[in-house]
Amino acid sequence: MSPAAPQRRPVAVLIGFMGAGKSTVGRILADRLGVDFVDTDAEIVRISGREIPEIFTAEGPARFREIERDVVLDVLRSHGGVVALGGGAVMTPAVADGLQGHRVVYLRVTADDGFARVRDSDRPLIAGDDPQRRYRELLDGRHETYTRTGTFAVDAAAGAPGDVADAILAELARTLVPERASTT
Ligand code: S3P
Repeated sequence: MSPAAPQRRPVAVLIGFMGAGKSTVGRILADRLGVDFVDTDAEIVRISGREIPEIFTAEGPARFREIERDVVLDVLRSHGGVVALGGGAVMTPAVADGLQGHRVVYLRVTADDGFARVRDSDRPLIAGDDPQRRYRELLDGRHETYTRTGTFAVDAAAGAPGDVADAILAELARTLVPERASTT
């Protein structure tokens, strides 16, 4: 990003594990707020011209995390709407640091619900012999970081995606009101 690029800040950043519904809920939330939506995984695909599993295979997980870190930090500095991060992004310390001071929504999902949503996908981190066990172990290992990084948490099972977006809106309203009041 050039130094002259406008500095903006997301209205909200959605974090949480694979299958929590970050992209679906984030898109609805952005729509209701009348702002743009960015999914950092989609940004990575757009910028690199390659799908996520392809990057994992060709470059390895460590390189994927570097690419992800750079894309996420850039989006956090330049995007004024709703942002959804890939499930592992907050495990990179520079990303967790970059999220400080942002409104971070932890979209919480149970291992059973989340796995049911991603079991037929091509997520590289749960490829292999026992994807359900892998999913559960990864979620267990990340839950504390998600909780610590989130400004607040909302359950993905709070209803249909629109209901979950409404639950987030209700929480956001408390912090959004003073900021909006000063610009209108
Ligand atoms: C990952 C989650 C994925 C994607 C990549 C790694 C993870 O994003 O970034 O496959 O480490 O949890 P979603 O959370 O959108 O599935």
